[in-house]
Amino acid sequence: MAKNISFPLVIILFSIVFFLINSSNAMPSFNVQRYGARGDGRTDSTKPFLTAWSLACRSRARAMVYIPRGTYLVRNLVFWGPCKSHITFKIDGTLVAPSNYWSIGNSGYWILFAKVNRISVSGGTIDARGAGYWSCRKNGGHCPQGARSMSFSWCNNVRLSGLTSLNSQNMHVTVHHSSNVRIQNIRIRAPSGSPNTDGIHVQSSSGVTISGGTIATGDDCIALSQGSRNIWIERVNCGPGHGISIGSLGDYVNEEGVQNVTVTSSVFTKTQNGVRIKTWARPSRGFVRNVVFRNLIMRNVDNPVIIDQNYCPNGRGCPRQSSGVKISGVTFANIKGTSTTPIAMKLDCSRSNHCTGIRLQDIRLTYMRRSSASYCRNVHGRRSGVVIPRNCL
Ligand SMILES: *[C@@H]1O[C@H](CO)[C@@H](O)[C@H](O)[C@H]1NC(C)=O
Repeated sequence: MAKNISFPLVIILFSIVFFLINSSNAMPSFNVQRYGARGDGRTDSTKPFLTAWSLACRSRARAMVYIPRGTYLVRNLVFWGPCKSHITFKIDGTLVAPSNYWSIGNSGYWILFAKVNRISVSGGTIDARGAGYWSCRKNGGHCPQGARSMSFSWCNNVRLSGLTSLNSQNMHVTVHHSSNVRIQNIRIRAPSGSPNTDGIHVQSSSGVTISGGTIATGDDCIALSQGSRNIWIERVNCGPGHGISIGSLGDYVNEEGVQNVTVTSSVFTKTQNGVRIKTWARPSRGFVRNVVFRNLIMRNVDNPVIIDQNYCPNGRGCPRQSSGVKISGVTFANIKGTSTTPIAMKLDCSRSNHCTGIRLQDIRLTYMRRSSASYCRNVHGRRSGVVIPRNCL
């Protein structure tokens, strides 16, 4: 009797499971090749990409834009939202910019997602081929403003995983005016001498997690600019590059502050800075608070630990040489390794707004196997555990 009942039951269960698997596979997929994209590295595939996007964006069901293997030449791509549903943007190929840098360099953006609410971008390589643009800038020629490689502006619920970004003209990845963004296992590469090629730049955004990744570039590996809140950064390999920075802040008088930032379990190799807070030496209502830098390894870093509130290149626009940005509640803990300069720790705070609540805990930074030194001005806080170099706090 029991057998007779359970047999139809098993059939029904199987049908349900089959239906569920099948329906999740049935995500509409918009393959860019179907709309004319060619993975030959030569055919301009800009329009087919935009067509695939607009169809996916209009889909009521969760939809996919799919880029198969191959090399696709694309000019500026602006992917506008809002979309009706979640979009998966899956890249198995490589996107390259035209070799003439003017082609994307005038608009400021190469690949831009704007006002998109739920999006997962995964895999793939984007190569902006920035070398010509950098040399134009270095030669002081007449150059376009330069394009950021991949940007998310006014987006929410973003996941970017496994992307490789090469040789951006300008910044590689930007997150502006966005929230709930996860960036996982990113690989970024540009030469150490390439100008302004920040790895990831965050501004006016909240809830940004960057976990895993290797960033080697010519400017900051990660820069957290004004209005960055609730930021978590872990397991990043940075170098070469200018380190992980909060700033530059205090560019303007009315500026949003930066708060609740954690940088942990990361390694800096041959970078100009390790962890840095940098503010212009001019009036501002900005602030930096609740920041933790911990569990970090420095390998041959010029300035492993640095707060610089006297940033004023060429002495222009800094009338009183004193920053209005208030820095408070910053912890540096368990930071070990080597400095290439004798001053391994520099905390140079504003004369008019001293740094407060600075905590130094378990720091050991050496200079060519010799003892290192520190430079501290206008800093208040406390020290615990073994802190080398000494003399601060
Ligand atoms: C600080 O940021 C983390 C990481 O984004 C977040 O989980 C946490 O809730 C934030 N804390 C506050 C008090 O907002």
